[in-house]
Amino acid sequence: MARRQIIIDTDPGQDDAVAILLALASPELEVLGITCVAGNVPLELTAKNARIVCELAGRTDIRVFAGCEKPIARKLVTAEHVHGKTGLDGITLPDPTMPVQDQHAVDFIIETLRSEPEGSVTLVPIGPLTNIATALERAPDIAPRVAEIVLMGGAYFEVGNITPTAEFNIYVDPEAAKIVYGAGIPLVMMPLDVTHKALTTRERVEAFRALPGKVGPAVASWTEFFERFDKEKYGSLGAPLHDPLTIAWLLRPDLFAGRHINVEIETGSDLTLGMTVADWWRVTDRAANATFVKDLDADAFFALLTERLARL
Ligand code: BDR
Ligand code: CA
Repeated sequence: MARRQIIIDTDPGQDDAVAILLALASPELEVLGITCVAGNVPLELTAKNARIVCELAGRTDIRVFAGCEKPIARKLVTAEHVHGKTGLDGITLPDPTMPVQDQHAVDFIIETLRSEPEGSVTLVPIGPLTNIATALERAPDIAPRVAEIVLMGGAYFEVGNITPTAEFNIYVDPEAAKIVYGAGIPLVMMPLDVTHKALTTRERVEAFRALPGKVGPAVASWTEFFERFDKEKYGSLGAPLHDPLTIAWLLRPDLFAGRHINVEIETGSDLTLGMTVADWWRVTDRAANATFVKDLDADAFFALLTERLARL
């Protein structure tokens, strides 16, 4: 089987951790590297957390790179109120022993896209888009070489989670998001509109906990930790498991539904900074630049995730 080559660009984060585990558990995918960015917590912690997750999965062979420590044009906004002080609160796991690579994440992204065959590498950003945008700015020749970008970010009908109109990943670095959305690269986005349909209900968390080995119980502890915040906020049955939907899309796109439409990023307004203005009803003649995913078969997604985590 030809494996799809991916680079996961991430700011772990419990839901990022689950996305990484899903990718590592899936033989259809080859994780060329994990590039870390500042987001949920500062860079030093995201680069540490990514390695904790690889070691939990027994995958010390995966290369982890540290990237940009702050957004392109703004001060870093973090989300310890959701993810806890470490970014991975919920269970204490051993400090990682595998090293962070010496190469900067942005250089790794550029070098990989230049050296692998054109159209073979998919980027999966599940944090602020700083690393990806910096790579595109520094090396515009890589844009046509990217197979696809499949990201978690944005919202339209669900509006925002960090402000009334913006989703966290886009809000933290809206200038970066504007560069990525304008790069002419095929782009699939998992906005809050679909992630808010992937809820960690009690039954789903207990299915993780019941898995043999260390991974399932760790995932159950993580999801329980960040649930406390979202349940209170949304009054929902569980928390949205945002980031793993990107990996699930690569494995089973048939579980999702969306539209190929125009999506623009607001960078000029204080009030709506970081809003993903999605032309869902196609009322403008602006060219489509993103597949905006809005629905999923949540039961099938959780069945897939649980089955894959059981393999680790
Ligand atoms: C996104 O923000 C982060 O807190 C999560 O990890 C996810 O990537 C959801 O808005
Ligand atoms: Ca994330």
